[in-house]
Amino acid sequence: MASVRLPGLVDVHVHLREPGATHKEDFESGTRAALAGGFTIVVAMPNTLPPLIDDDSLCQAEEAGAAKAVCDFGIHLGASSHNTATAYMLAERVVGLKFYLDATFGSLLLADLGDIREHFARWPKDRPILCHAEDRNLATVLLCAHLENRGVHIVHVCRQSEIECIRDAKMRGMSVTCEVAPHHLYLSHDDIHRIGPGRSEVRPRLQAPADVAALWDNMDVVDCIATDHAPHLLSEKDGSNPPPGFPGLETSLPLMLTAVHAGRLTLDDLIDKMAHQPRRIFGLPEQADTWIEVDVDAEWVVPEQGVTRCGWTPFAGMPVRGRVERVYLRGQNVFHDGFFHVEPGYGRNVRQPVS
Ligand code: NCD
Ligand code: ZN
Repeated sequence: MASVRLPGLVDVHVHLREPGATHKEDFESGTRAALAGGFTIVVAMPNTLPPLIDDDSLCQAEEAGAAKAVCDFGIHLGASSHNTATAYMLAERVVGLKFYLDATFGSLLLADLGDIREHFARWPKDRPILCHAEDRNLATVLLCAHLENRGVHIVHVCRQSEIECIRDAKMRGMSVTCEVAPHHLYLSHDDIHRIGPGRSEVRPRLQAPADVAALWDNMDVVDCIATDHAPHLLSEKDGSNPPPGFPGLETSLPLMLTAVHAGRLTLDDLIDKMAHQPRRIFGLPEQADTWIEVDVDAEWVVPEQGVTRCGWTPFAGMPVRGRVERVYLRGQNVFHDGFFHVEPGYGRNVRQPVS
């Protein structure tokens, strides 16, 4: 049994469902799942109800996080056609500005090129812009970022054409970074039948095996692994209008450690993509006296249910390697062999100075 000390992991892409859909997850259940998965900072996405696009909605998420989070957290603001003139005023309180160029769960969608350009022009250059921009939409945001002479981060890249476009943009010196979700590295079209049609719904959709292979082949182009933890209840996934999304906080480290055992990346690559790079790209603070202890060799089979409130995972039954044994957050042993020793509210907002 090899227990290894790793830095606390950072996930810049989680859906904590608060405000508005706490039957799926909330700041407490989601950050508990984060600790169980080895994450000590998570950044929540703005496609909530209401979406996080103004002071009122952002206050709701900030208050929920402050009261309930058990690991440190940040919040991304949503870019919409209604806040092109005001979003930048909230930049200090959030981690990044999220653009939805493709339709997904929730109402946020940025369809108009003029709105996209205005958000690119106004958002502070030293603050991240994150884009859900699939296929041809990727070319749109790369051009817009280039015209403003600023960086852009592309979320959940999943196609060969996309990762190759980002690779070539980087080769031309463009300031672009990207993340890939473990489910796009492990699942393809071929798994839809086994998982079931409703449960397999995710945005971006599962792709062809050749796309999965291209992501692995271009791991050096991938800056971050982000879970895109998107919990929905099984009753919703198996219903008539299944919402897209998979939980991911508890399976991502084991899946990536399984890849380390298979020789597909090194442990140092994993630490870079799951801790150092997300911290650097998103300007997240170092956390003093914070680390995780992981039995990197442990072999186990993903159970049907984890800590997340959604109660299922598309990886149930999959053999994986690596188990999170202990998590230390700011000196406190908050997670120990499956048990939590932390009160709601212990987690800090990384954008709120401690008073
Ligand atoms: C996400 C969700 O459920 O909020 N769903 C998903 O399939 N990934 C939204 C998103 O990230 O696109
Ligand atoms: Zn997402």
